[in-house]
Amino acid sequence: ASPVLFDNHGRPLEYLRLAVTDRCNLRCFYCMPEEGIQYLPKQELLTYEEMERTVGILAGLGVRKVRLTGGEPFVRRDLVPFIGRLSQIPGIDDISLTTNGVLTAPHIPELARLGIRTVNLSLDTLDRARFARITRRDELPRVLDTFYALLSAGIKVKINAVVMDGQNIEDLVPLAELTRDLPVDVRFIEEMPFNGGSHGAIQIPWNHLRIREHLEQHLGLLTPIATRPGDTASHYTAAGHQGRVGIIAAYSRTFCGTCNRLRLTAEGGLKTCLYDQGVLDVRALLRTGAPDTDVAAALANAFRHRAANGFEAERQRPVHQLSFESMSTIGG
Ligand code: GTP
Ligand code: 5AD
Ligand code: SF4
Repeated sequence: ASPVLFDNHGRPLEYLRLAVTDRCNLRCFYCMPEEGIQYLPKQELLTYEEMERTVGILAGLGVRKVRLTGGEPFVRRDLVPFIGRLSQIPGIDDISLTTNGVLTAPHIPELARLGIRTVNLSLDTLDRARFARITRRDELPRVLDTFYALLSAGIKVKINAVVMDGQNIEDLVPLAELTRDLPVDVRFIEEMPFNGGSHGAIQIPWNHLRIREHLEQHLGLLTPIATRPGDTASHYTAAGHQGRVGIIAAYSRTFCGTCNRLRLTAEGGLKTCLYDQGVLDVRALLRTGAPDTDVAAALANAFRHRAANGFEAERQRPVHQLSFESMSTIGG
C-alpha cells in the first residue's frame, strides 16, 4: 500500500517505533546508569489495549511497519499475545522487534509463527567478560542462544553493536566476521549521548569513517550497497561474505531528510523526531474517551508539523540543553 499521509516536508508516514516498556534487564552503560533509571509507574504506561487502538488508527493514516522497542520489550508480560493482535490489524504488514536477546529465545517459535520477519539484536561483543562489563550483567550465553535460535527459525537478524572507544574495538572485526558464513546484517552504531545521566560524549572518537576504515583494514574493501529511503544504516559487503555489514552514523550524520518514522514512548508520548520532547500526549487523549476520528485527527496534525531537521536543531543547542535522556525511555 502506498503512504496516505505526508508531513509538511513531503516525507511519508510509514513506520512506527513503539516502546512497550521503559524497563530493561540490562544496564548498558551507554544507555543507563548502573542504578537504572526512574521507571514509570504502571498506570502511566499505555496498556496493550491502548497501544493496539493507536496502532489501528495509525494504520488508517498509512503506517504499515511497526517496530517494538523499549526498554527491553520482553520484560513486559504477555508481549507475544499482543504481537499476535497487532499482526491482525489491517494495513500492518511488517512487525519487527529490537531486543537485547536475554529473554527472547523461548518465544522464537511463536514469533516465527506470527510472521515476524526481522529481529534487531543488540550485541556489542562476543566476549563474555566484555559483555558483562558493558551491560553490567553476565548474560552473553543467553543472547547467543537467541541469535542461533533466530537463525534456525528463519527470522532475519540484524545485530546492533554500539562502537565504544576503549570498550569493544577489538570486537568489531569478530562481529563483522559473522557475515562471512551467515546471512546476517551486522550494524555498527556511533554512540549517541543518550545514557540517562551524566554527559555523553560530545566528540566521538569512532565515527562512521573511522569504523569503515578499521573494518577495511581487516576484511578488505567494503562495497557499498544501495540503501532504501529511511534506512539508518549504510550497507556494505565484504568480498565473498553472505551477510552485510552496516554502519549507522547516528551521531555524525543526519537521516532527517528521508525520515519516515513516528515514535510512541512507553507513557504514550508521540514523538515526530528522536530529538523532540514529545509533541502529543496520546495517553491523555485516549483516556479522555475521544473517539477514533478525533485521535486520528490529532495524530495526523502532529505529523504535519514536523521539524525539517531535528538533528541539526539538536546540534545547535548549547551543551547544557542537550538531551541526556535514556535511550530506554525514548525507545531508540
Ligand atoms: P530498521 O531500519 O527497521 O532495521 O530499524 P532501525 O535501524 O531504525 O532500528 P534499531 O532499533 O535497530 O536502531 C538502530 C540504531 O539506530 C539505534 O542506535 C537507534 O537509536 C538508531 N536510530 C533509530 N532511529 C534513528 C533516528 O531517527 N535518528 C538517529 N540519529 N538514530 C536513529
Ligand atoms: N547510542 C547509540 N545506540 C544506542 N542504543 C542504546 N543506547 C545507545 C546510544 N547511546 C542502541 C541499542 C539498541 C538500539 C535500539 O539502540 O544498542 O540496539
Ligand atoms: Fe537495555 Fe537496550 Fe538500554 Fe542495554 S541499550 S540497557 S539492552 S534498553
